[in-house]
Amino acid sequence: MKTLILSGHNTNDIEKAGEILRSGGLVAIPTETVYGLAANALDGKVVRKIYEAKGRPSDNPLIVHISEFTQLKPLVREVPESARKLAAAFWPGPLTIILKKSELIPEETSGGLDTVAVRFPSHPIARAVIQAAGVPLAAPSANLSGKPSPTMFAHVQEDLNGRVDALLDGGDCAVGVESTVITLAEGTPRVLRPGGVTVSQLRSILGEVEVDDAVVHRLQEGKSAASPGMKYKHYSPKADVVIVDASPEEYVTFVNSKQNCHALCFDEDTEKLKVPFVSYGTRYDGEKQAHLLFSALHYLDEIGAQRVFAHIPSKSGVGLAVYNRLIRSAGFQIARPGTRRLVGLVGPSGAGKSTVSQLFCELGCGAVDCDSLTRSSQVYDKACLLELARAFGEDILVDGGFNRALVAQRAFRTNQGKKILGKITFPRILRQMWKQVEEEERSGKKIILLDAPTLFEAGLDAVCCRIIAVSAPEEIRTSRIMARDGISQEQAALRLSAQQGNAFYTSRADFVVENRGEENLRDAVSKIFEELQGDSDTL
Ligand code: TXA
Ligand code: MG
Repeated sequence: MKTLILSGHNTNDIEKAGEILRSGGLVAIPTETVYGLAANALDGKVVRKIYEAKGRPSDNPLIVHISEFTQLKPLVREVPESARKLAAAFWPGPLTIILKKSELIPEETSGGLDTVAVRFPSHPIARAVIQAAGVPLAAPSANLSGKPSPTMFAHVQEDLNGRVDALLDGGDCAVGVESTVITLAEGTPRVLRPGGVTVSQLRSILGEVEVDDAVVHRLQEGKSAASPGMKYKHYSPKADVVIVDASPEEYVTFVNSKQNCHALCFDEDTEKLKVPFVSYGTRYDGEKQAHLLFSALHYLDEIGAQRVFAHIPSKSGVGLAVYNRLIRSAGFQIARPGTRRLVGLVGPSGAGKSTVSQLFCELGCGAVDCDSLTRSSQVYDKACLLELARAFGEDILVDGGFNRALVAQRAFRTNQGKKILGKITFPRILRQMWKQVEEEERSGKKIILLDAPTLFEAGLDAVCCRIIAVSAPEEIRTSRIMARDGISQEQAALRLSAQQGNAFYTSRADFVVENRGEENLRDAVSKIFEELQGDSDTL
C-alpha cells in the first residue's frame, strides 16, 4: 500500500486526513502522549483494519478520541458525576475514562466488552483532525503490536509506512507515555494504566481511587485482566532488558562488572559508567523520564543493543507510568545486586522523621540517626578538636572538650566557615555512620534507614536505593519544635526558614509520608515497608 505522508502544520493536509478517515481509511496522528493510529470509531469494519495493520489481538479494546466534551454523551450509557468532575479537571489531556458503552460503539472498538474507553486529547493537531473527520476516532498507539509506542514521527514511519493510508507528521510528543486509563464503569474508580495524570491528582478530584494490581505486577496465570492490554507482551525492544533495583553507586558497580551490555540510566549515572549508555532523564524527574523512555528504547534497538540494564525509576507521580512501561519492556525481570538496602529518610525539622524511623524499626528495619551523629562524642576525637582549634581559635577548647556554641557561631558566620567545618567533621561523621550501618547489618538488618536531614547536601542519596520524605504543614512543625526544644515561636520559625521546605524533599522522594497523626503514620509505614522488601518478580 502506498502511504501518504502529510504535515500536521498544513491545514490542507489536515483536511485531507479528515477526508481519508471519513471515507474509512487509517491515518496515524500525533497526540500529546504518543502517536495514535486512527480510524472511524463507529464503523466496526474500518476498526478491524486497525487490528490488522498493527497485528493487534482483537480482544484488546481501543480508545475513542473526541474533540469536545459534548461528544461523550452519545457514546456512553450515562455520564456519571465522577466523569464530569474528571473531565473538568483533566480534559483535554492525557486521561482516558472507561464507562458503560452505548449502542453506537461497535464490538470491534470495545473488543467485545460492554464498556468503552474515551479520551479528549489536548494536542491541537489531534483535535483538528477529529474535527475534520467529523466522527470520533478509535486510536491505539501507532506501533506494531508489542513494540514500544512511537513518540517521534520517525518511529511511526518505521512501523507503519506501507501498512496504512496516511501518516501525519506533528513532531515529537510532549508527554511520551500513553494516557492514564481509569475505569468508572463499576465500583470504586480504578486506574488500569498509569500515565501523565497521576494517581494523586485523580484522588484530589475523586477521593478514593484504586490502582489495579496489574499496574506493577505480572498478571497471575489464569487471572483475567481488567484491561486486556495488560496481558500482552508490551513495549519490548529487541534487546533483553533487565531493571536494576539498586542505589546509584550499586547500579554503576553492577553494570560496570558486566560485558557486552548497554546501560539505560539516569543523567547522574553517566559519569561513572564504563559501558555504553543511554540516559532517560534525571533520577528525580519522572516527567522527563516519561518523555524520553520510548525514544531511548527505540535508540537502543537502532544501535543494536543486545542486553540492557535499566536503572529503576521511582514509582511516585508520573514515575509510576515510567515504571509500568519499563517493567513490561523488561518482561518483569528485576535484579537486586545489593545485599542490604539503604533507604534515605528526609524532611524538615519537626515533620516527624524520628517517629517514622521508630515505626520502621518496629517492623524489623535498622536505622542510623545521622543528625545525632553530628553531636556524637566519637566524632570529636582529639585530632578533630585540634583541627577545629586551628580553624576557629584556640579559645574554643575547654577542659577536654570544646565550646560547641562558639564554634557554631564562628563557623556559620560565612560560607567559607561552613565549608571548613564540613571538611573537618563530615568525613568523621560519615565514618561513624558507616560503622553503625555495618553494626545494623551484622545484627541481620536487611533494610537500613539513613535518617539524615542533609542527605542530599552530603551526597548520601547516591548510596540509597530509595528515599522517603516525611512532610507536615509548617504550623504543625513549628509547634512541635517549640514543644520539643522549649523555644519560642520566633526561634522555631527562624530555624525552619533556614531549612528547605517540604517540597524540596517530596520532589526528590520515592515515597512521601504525610504526617497526619500516629495511626495514619503506622499505615503509611507498613505499606512502604512491604514495597521495600521487594516484589516477587525478582531474578
Ligand atoms: O495516550 C493514549 O492513550 C494513546 C493515544 C494514541 O491516545 N492510545 C493508546 O491506545 O495508548 P492503546 O490501544 O495502545 O491502549 C489502550 C489501552 C489498552 O491497554 C486497552 O486494553 C485499554 O486501554 N482499554 C481500552 N478500552 C478498554 C475498556 N473498555 N476496558 C478496559 N481497558 C480498555
Ligand atoms: Mg499501545
